[in-house]
Amino acid sequence: MASLLTKDKISHKIALDILELVAQSPDAKIGLPTGRTPEALYKYLVSLSREKKVDWTKAKFFGLDEYINAPNAKTFKFYLEKNFYQPLKIDRNSCFNPIDIEDYDAFIKAQGGLDLTILGIGQNGHIAFNEPPCVKHTWTHCIELAASTREANKNFFESLGKVPERAVTMGIETLLSSKKIILLAFGEKKHEILKDALDGKVRAENPASYLQLHKNLSVFTDFGYET
Ligand code: PGA
Repeated sequence: MASLLTKDKISHKIALDILELVAQSPDAKIGLPTGRTPEALYKYLVSLSREKKVDWTKAKFFGLDEYINAPNAKTFKFYLEKNFYQPLKIDRNSCFNPIDIEDYDAFIKAQGGLDLTILGIGQNGHIAFNEPPCVKHTWTHCIELAASTREANKNFFESLGKVPERAVTMGIETLLSSKKIILLAFGEKKHEILKDALDGKVRAENPASYLQLHKNLSVFTDFGYET
């Protein structure tokens, strides 16, 4: 039986893959997730970039989603600032967020489209903040957060009541338009929904199942899911 990679080892490997992409294509456009899943990935991106003196100056970064009406310190913009942009002194003119741009999809397209998008998965199957049920034909839009998502994210806030009720998110089509997608799922809690997303029927009740339609998807888990 193949030995399992830990979250830490996977994060290290993906960080190296991203650095390789940027070495090959310095002007890469990258969709960036937030939350618990990519924390170690950002840690390695920062340390390895410093070690290898990576030049990020031509790359562009696109946040996947954002809360509506969250205090600044709780926004995903702030998360990316703290974990990635600020430590690497990335030019903020190269960093974009769906809440600041009127037509995010047209904007992304005008930049040449996403080369790589990193995704986590919610316990209800959401990718970015595309909550179930979710039709495939969605571009960047506002959504109401699922009760289970607000519950899952309440520890980032003072209480459940302070978790925003709405957010803006790249849509399923936005995500599928990325040339490459890397899906990360860590912890047994994600096992069942991930298995359903990859082996079950493609359907609105599990938004991550739309990833089956993508031609260049890589999935990494620390719980031994085999595709
Ligand atoms: P998490 O969230 O990384 O905090 O588990 C994943 C997601 O909701 O997409």
